[in-house]
This record gives sequence, C-alpha cells and structure tokens, in this order.
Amino acid sequence: MARVLVAYGSKRGSTAEIAEWIGQTLREEGHQVDVLAAGAARDARGYDAVILGGGLYARRWHRDVQRFARRHATTLRAVSVWLFSSGPLDHSAVERDIPPTPNVARWSARLEALGHATFGGRLAEDAAGFPASSMARTMAGDFRDRAHIEAWAKAVAAELG
Ligand SMILES: Cc1cc2nc3c(=O)[nH]c(=O)nc-3n(C[C@H](O)[C@H](O)[C@H](O)COP(=O)(O)O)c2cc1C
Repeated sequence: MARVLVAYGSKRGSTAEIAEWIGQTLREEGHQVDVLAAGAARDARGYDAVILGGGLYARRWHRDVQRFARRHATTLRAVSVWLFSSGPLDHSAVERDIPPTPNVARWSARLEALGHATFGGRLAEDAAGFPASSMARTMAGDFRDRAHIEAWAKAVAAELG
C-alpha cells in the first residue's frame, strides 16, 4: 500500500472532480489517498507518490498547481510523481495521447515525473467571466471521460505496486 497525494488546481471545479475520481480509483486499488486542492495542501512530505493535475488556461496549468510544484519541488523530486492536465473542449483527448503543453512539459522535466496524461475538460454553458462566457457560446460541454481517467489511474496504481 502506498501513501498518495492527489493535488489539483481547478478554477471551475471540473479538474477537482477528476482528482476525486483518480483518488477513488487508487483507494479501490488498495492505496491510502489524500485528494487536496493545491492551494490548500500545506505539505508534500509524508507521501510515497504524488499526482499533480491542473486545468489548462491559455496552455498553462492552473496557477495553484504551479505554485505547489515550485514550492515543493525538492520533496517532489524525491518521490514518484505523475502529472495530468485537463483542458480540451472536444473529444481529442480520448482519440489520441495529447502531449503536455510546453508549460506543463517544463514541470514534468523539473519534477522528473514518471508520466503525464491529458484529459478532456468541461465548460458550462453559463460560465461566468470573460473570455469563458464567450468561449462557452461555441465550446460548452463536458468532455471528461471517466473510464479514460480511471484506466489511467489504474495504470498508475499498478506501477505503485
Ligand atoms: C479562458 C479559458 C482558457 C482556456 N485555455 C485552454 C487551453 O489553453 N487549452 C485547453 O486544452 N483548454 C483550455 N481551456 C479549457 C479548460 O481547461 C477546461 O474548461 C477545463 O476543464 C477547466 O478546468 P477547471 O473546471 O478545473 O477550471 C480554457 C478555458 C477557458 C475558460
């Protein structure tokens, strides 16, 4: 059994839900898991593995997860780290592996991450704020595929042993 932290950066809640689904899968596979908002997580110490995920905004990870990664980089480099991004507002993420954006790829290198996955995102029709509200006119929808996410979490769980 491994102790695992799933820390996420999410503006509108959909990445938070992905993190919960990942946490639930890892628990079902026998691991002890904390799922925390990266802005609220105080420490990365005390875990065997950390999964960091963020919603994508202008091809960058949500700032809370970048801040967490920066602050805890030394600790994170010493444990097993996996990353995920959530963003594409279409079905592309289930059709093919989408590589990390340059911003996330830099974090992957810096933290010596063992893997990265891109999952579809969600944008509500009534999303508030600019430019989200105008994007929502043509791109609203929930493109997260729970089976895809759980399959990835199971593969991570298998690597944890
Ligand atoms: C202003 C804005 C910019 C976005 N930029 C990107 C982007 O660069 N790449 C991408 O794949 N998705 C992008 N998205 C889609 C979001 O990543 C998607 O809605 C995601 O599910 C948001 O996560 P959250 O609900 O956890 O905040 C953008 C959405 C908004 C509203």
